[in-house]
Order: sequence, then C-alpha cells, then structure tokens
Amino acid sequence: MEFLRNTWYIAGWASSFTQTMVSRIFLDEPIVLFRNAGGTIRALKDRCPHRFVPLHLGTLEGDQIRCRYHGLVFNDQGMCVHNPHGDGLVPRAACVHAYPVAERHGFAWIWMGDPALADTGLVPDFSGFDPASHYVGQDYLHVKANYQLETDNILDLSHIEFLHQSSLGSDEVAKGQIEVVQNGNVVHSKRFTQGERLTEELERLRGVPPGQAVDRWLDVRWNAPANMLLTTGFTPTGQARDAGREVQVAHVFTPETQATTHYWFGISFPKSLGDNGRALAAQNIEWLRKPFETEDLPVLQAQQVAMGERDFWSMKPVLLPSDGAGVRARRLLQSMIRSENAVQEDAAAISTAS
Ligand code: FES
Ligand SMILES: [Fe+2]
Repeated sequence: MEFLRNTWYIAGWASSFTQTMVSRIFLDEPIVLFRNAGGTIRALKDRCPHRFVPLHLGTLEGDQIRCRYHGLVFNDQGMCVHNPHGDGLVPRAACVHAYPVAERHGFAWIWMGDPALADTGLVPDFSGFDPASHYVGQDYLHVKANYQLETDNILDLSHIEFLHQSSLGSDEVAKGQIEVVQNGNVVHSKRFTQGERLTEELERLRGVPPGQAVDRWLDVRWNAPANMLLTTGFTPTGQARDAGREVQVAHVFTPETQATTHYWFGISFPKSLGDNGRALAAQNIEWLRKPFETEDLPVLQAQQVAMGERDFWSMKPVLLPSDGAGVRARRLLQSMIRSENAVQEDAAAISTAS
C-alpha cells in the first residue's frame, strides 16, 4: 500500500537533534536532518543532485552542507549556493527537496507531501509531552515490521494479557469492556477492566498498594498515519475515575519502508510532581523498554515475515471483537490515501488537458 503523504510524521524526539547531521529513511526516502545555526530543525533530501552521494557524508558548515564528493554547497533550504567548478555558475537543477519541519510537543514533525499544504495547525495534540511542562521518559526502537501492524498492536491492548503477562497484563484484560469511537479522522479505542490484580512491578511503578484490586482504563487515541496516545489510569476497584491516577504514554510510528518502522515511545509526568515526577519518568521508561523490545518486537517481526509482501486484507484475517478500532484505523487510512491519490490524478489530468 502506498503511504499517506500530506500529513505530519514524527521525525524524532526534538531534543535529539543538534547541529550535527542525522540521516534517516522515512517512507523509503533518504533524509538528512540537522539544526541550523539559529537552532531550527531542517530536513533535506539526503542525495546530492550531481552524482547522488548522500549529503550527510559531507560537512555541515553553519547553515550549509558541503557535498563530500565534488564540493557543491547547499543552504538549509536545499538550494545550491556554491559551485567550485568552472565559472562557478550554479545549474538550475542543483537543488534538493526541503521538507517542512515543525517542532511541537517535544517531537520533531516532518511533512512528507506538498510543502504548500504543510499546516502546523494539523499537528495532533501531544501537549502532555511538552518538555516545558512535563518530565518525559523518551526512547526509540527500530522495528522490522510494517507500521500498520504497530497500529493493530496499540489499538488492541487485549494482547497485554497474553504477550505481557508478567509485566503489563493481568487475567482480566481480554474480557474488559471495549468501546470504539470515531470523530472525523480520529479513532479512539477504549478498554475498561474491573477488579484487576496488577503485576507487582506495575503496582510499584504506578504507586498502587500491593495486592490492591483496581479498575483500569486503557484509552488510545489514533491519528493518521500511526500516532497513538495512550491515557491509562487506575482506581481502587469500584471508585470513580477522578479518584484515580492517570499517565500518558506515546506510541508513535513512522514508516521507514513498507517492512520497517521507526518507533518512538514515551511516558510523561507533570512537572508539578517535582523530583518525584522526574524519577518516575526515568524509572518507567527504562522499565517499559523490556516488554516492548523483548515481547512485542519478536511477535511483530514474525508477523511481517509470515506476511511477506502480501496485502493484509488479501490474507483474509480472522476478526475478533477487539479488532474494531484497528480495522477502523486501517480503513480510514486507506481511504485517506485513496482520496489523496485521486486529487493528484485529477490535477495531472487537468494539466495534461490544458
Ligand atoms: S556528488 Fe555531490 S558534488 Fe558531486
Ligand atoms: Fe504490547
């Protein structure tokens, strides 16, 4: 399946970018990212238009990149500004695509489609991860699986009962109440369990007294293409939700290729908690990596191997009640990609006719 282009993808934790070039592949395109001299994150196609050498192999000199091979120099908008050869004239085609980037809610967002349509108002709300107001535990995993398998994974958290039995799960999860809500192009997958006994480690990390039976909510919001915000909390069983404690977890995915994915995950605690919040962010993010890396990843990667290049729907997957949100998100993404392609085809037809 093709990728959605006119949308904001996450390029990484904003704090990870410095005045050093980083090369990443998003949607099969090589991209070089860096902060310019003024501290703004820039993203350029990582391929010199002369003989296609990756620009990140060159040198970053202030706001300019000098190609390592024959020394063409590009500014941070992708324009060639210096040609050390012959009369020094710069060929018209000597430029590389500059991708719009927005720094918002602690993430760097990159627009992979038409730059004229890049509206920062379309960045989904992850304000709970703003480092100005929150301590955020941040991490990253590289996954050898298609990004939509990750969407399925996060929108159907029934799997924590089975796959994460000794960490995040309990015996009550799969039979919890589930609800799927769609608002426009946003899908919500809500799960509510009652009378759960959490694992000892989760009790310790989330401040639940040992052995306390709890009611737990696991509410996930999905924004296309695959950015998910999990809001989860507990109360002693039977109590109203506002008596509980809530935490936000980000699960955000950007396709590297059709079969590999960048996975950034984070957990946030308000700065009003002081040093305790800082410690909770550090402890929780360290602890979460293990189930994600050693339990989810092997299963997702095995799924990808089993599916190969076959289309998901062509394999006629069996559907369970817990698949409602995942199916909704897949269909929505598919229709967004179709309408994007239809607009492009219309535009191409008009320009051919005129
Ligand atoms: S490949 Fe970049 S200047 Fe020749
Ligand atoms: Fe999982």
